[in-house]
Amino acid sequence: MSGHGDAQPMTSAKCGPLRGTAAVPGDKSISHRALIFGAMAVGETKITGLLEGQDVLDTARAMRAFGADVVQHGAGSWSVHGVGVGGFMEPADVIDCGNSGTGVRLIMGCMATTAMTATFTGDASLRKRPMGRVTDPLSLFGTQAYGRKGGRLPMTVVGAATPVPVRYALPVASAQVKSAVLLAGLNAPGETVVIEREPTRDHSERMLLGFGAELSVEQGPEGHVITLKGRPELRPQTVAVPRDPSSAAFPTCAALIVEGSDILVPGVSQNLTRNGLYITLAEMGAQIEFLNPREEGGEPVADLRVRFSDDMRGIEVPPDRAPSMIDEYPILSVVAAFATGRTVMRGVKELRVKESDRIDAMARGLEACGVRIEEDEDTLIVHGMGAGGMPGGAVCATHLDHRIAMSFLIAGMAAKAAVSVDDASPIVTSFPIFEGLMNGLGAAIRRG
Ligand code: S3P
Repeated sequence: MSGHGDAQPMTSAKCGPLRGTAAVPGDKSISHRALIFGAMAVGETKITGLLEGQDVLDTARAMRAFGADVVQHGAGSWSVHGVGVGGFMEPADVIDCGNSGTGVRLIMGCMATTAMTATFTGDASLRKRPMGRVTDPLSLFGTQAYGRKGGRLPMTVVGAATPVPVRYALPVASAQVKSAVLLAGLNAPGETVVIEREPTRDHSERMLLGFGAELSVEQGPEGHVITLKGRPELRPQTVAVPRDPSSAAFPTCAALIVEGSDILVPGVSQNLTRNGLYITLAEMGAQIEFLNPREEGGEPVADLRVRFSDDMRGIEVPPDRAPSMIDEYPILSVVAAFATGRTVMRGVKELRVKESDRIDAMARGLEACGVRIEEDEDTLIVHGMGAGGMPGGAVCATHLDHRIAMSFLIAGMAAKAAVSVDDASPIVTSFPIFEGLMNGLGAAIRRG
C-alpha cells in the first residue's frame, strides 16, 4: 500500500543483558520470489514460513491482480495457484507495490514479455527510486515503459507482444535487476543471458532451477554468466522459506553491543551471497559461534550464539563484499560506533538508492547521537567510541526506511541516553514482530 498511515515515533532506552532465542521471520527476498514463481507455475505451489511483512503482502496482492489465486491458510502458510509462464491477465487497476523495490522491479520483469499493459506505483520512498535500471534492459526484449522524469514511478509498462531474448551485462551489482531480466526471459523464446561481474544474491537462480527451469551458471572472464532457456513450463513447488539473515542481523548486533548479553539466533543463512555481515563482524572481534550447520529450505543455515563483545575493533570492509551485505550497512554502522577505531565502508554508493539514502540517513542520525562520521558519495566512515561509548539522546529521522528505524532503535539499547526515531511504522515492511521480539529478549523499546 502507498504510505504507512500515521508516523509512529518510538524510543529505545539502555537495557540490561539480552537473553533468550531470537526467532526472526522468513526471508523477504525468498518470500517475494516464492509468490512470483508460484504465480508463473502451472498448478498449486505451497509455501510455509512466508514473511507476512507489508512488502510481501503487496506482492501477494499484485500476483492476484495478474490472475493467480493466492490464499493464506494460516500463519506463514500460503498457496499460490499459478497461471503458467505467459498466462498472466492484464490487471484491472494500478499495481501498488508500497515500499518495495524488490516487489516492483521483479513484477515489472515478470509481466514485461506478455502482451499487456500495467501501471505501477508505490509510497513516497519507492516513488523516488530509479526504475531505469530495470526498464533499460527490459526494453531490449521489446518492452516499453513510460514513467516520470528520471524513470520514477508511477510508471506504465507495455509488455512486448513478440519478445526477443536478451544478452545483458549488469552495469550495477543488483539482484533485483538480474532477477527482473531472468523473469522477463522466461517468456521470451530462445536463451536469455545475464552476466554479473560481482555475485549478488542467487535466490532467483536457485528457485528457478527448483521450479524446473533450464538454467546454467558459468564462471567466465566477465563474471557469472547465467543462461536461461525461455518458455519452460514451471512446475509448482513446496517452498519452505528460511529465516531472513537481514532481519537476524538486528538481534545479533544488539546482543554484541548490550553488556552481558548471550542469545541464540537460530537458522541464519550462510549463503555466501548473503552472509557478508557475519564475516565482517567476526573480523571485528565479535563473539559469534556458528552452531549446528545444516540445510533448510534449500539454504545452508547455522544457529548463532551471540555474546556481548566489549573489544570489537573497527576494520576496512572490503568493497567487493558489499553485495553480500548490502542491506546490513546501517546496522553495521551502529556496531562500528560501539567498536574502537575507524570502520571504513567503501564502494557503498548503492546505499544512496535504497528505501532512503542510507549513507545520509545513518550519517546524520549517528552524528546526532554524538558519533564522528566521514562520508563521500561512495563511502561511510564511522569513528568508534568503544563499548557503551555512544552518547545517544537524539531523535533520528527514518525517511520511510525500515532498516534505518531498526538500526537506531538498536543503538538506543546500548547508548548512554535513549535514542528515538521519528517514525518506526516502516518496520512492518520486513520485520513486523521486531518490537515484541526485541522486548522479549530484554530491550526497552516503547512507542512514543
Ligand atoms: C534484493 C536485492 C537487493 C536488496 C533488497 C532485496 C532482492 O537490492 O537490497 O533488499 O531480493 O533481490 P538490489 O538488487 O537493488 O541490490
